[in-house]
Amino acid sequence: METMKWEDGSLKLLDQTKLPLEVNYVACKTAEEVADAIKSMKVRGAPAIGAAAAYGLALGGFGLCTDDPVDFKRELKQISDMLAATRPTAVNLFWALRRMVDTAEKASANSVSELKDILLQEAEAIFMEDLEMNRSIGRFGNELIPEGARILTHCNAGALATAGFGTALGVIRAAHETGKNIQVFADETRPLLQGARLTAWELVQDKIPVTLITDNMAGYLMKKGMIDLAVVGADRITANGDVANKIGTYTVAVLCKEHNIPFYVAAPISTIDMKLDSGDDIPIEERESIEVTSVFGQVVAPKDVKVFNPAFDVTPNELVTAIITDRGVVRPHYKENLLKIFS
Ligand code: MRU
Repeated sequence: METMKWEDGSLKLLDQTKLPLEVNYVACKTAEEVADAIKSMKVRGAPAIGAAAAYGLALGGFGLCTDDPVDFKRELKQISDMLAATRPTAVNLFWALRRMVDTAEKASANSVSELKDILLQEAEAIFMEDLEMNRSIGRFGNELIPEGARILTHCNAGALATAGFGTALGVIRAAHETGKNIQVFADETRPLLQGARLTAWELVQDKIPVTLITDNMAGYLMKKGMIDLAVVGADRITANGDVANKIGTYTVAVLCKEHNIPFYVAAPISTIDMKLDSGDDIPIEERESIEVTSVFGQVVAPKDVKVFNPAFDVTPNELVTAIITDRGVVRPHYKENLLKIFS
């Protein structure tokens, strides 16, 4: 199963809104189609959004008609801004677009046609590097997983949310691959059910033992001694180690603290935003009320009810036991120790 693939001059995206009922790829031939796929969450998960946007910008470049490199770069920046306006929280989106625009700016290409090829190569590099980073996260994270661990995860930080293998699920996959007899508990993750629809689907396919629970069951399981650790992904980690991730992650972290259970965050360095001092500065996306008033297309609430639908929350660094990155495991004090992995 591939989250995305470049084929015949288009970006084929596995439509995640249809999973697990349908495995269906949509072909994006323009930057606008990629932007729409990100907005409507056909592709989702921070690193996957970044990689898709990079391919989207390459597609946008191919669609430009000018022969003048200066005009080309100016128009490319406009397309980048359009792609950046899709989802505000995952920093990988802005990281990938910045990298693409910088690549075009710095390229010693003489012609627009060379620039177009360079952009596609850069998008491919972003995709391949993400895959590599996830493998490294898996190797580092595996050291933290005891034999027989019962692991809680929230949302989907798996192959579907990345170029492949996953971050939180990368750690879980690595533990399974090395023969550890682990069990996963997956929060269903309302409102859009990424845990039930995507995480459970991925793990069932890989034959990794998984038990699906609703979000409000996690505390009960912890109290009963049924969870040994939690591992989740991230959409943005700030310089002080605060973590934005899917709504409900903060609740899991608070529950872990209460029950003395390690709470790990797994993320590549492209998710770390050293420009922001704390999680208070992270823009939190709010999505449409229909996501709360319905479940997979079925309306479950009265028509005119007022709804609040923040898509992410911020877990303060003091609740995070360690951050598993592709450059190693970072522990508190995060302000100093995150700086070290960038030096
Ligand atoms: O709204 P989504 O489905 O894009 O949110 C995804 C998450 O919150 C993931 O946990 C996060 O992006 C990490 S993916 C490796």
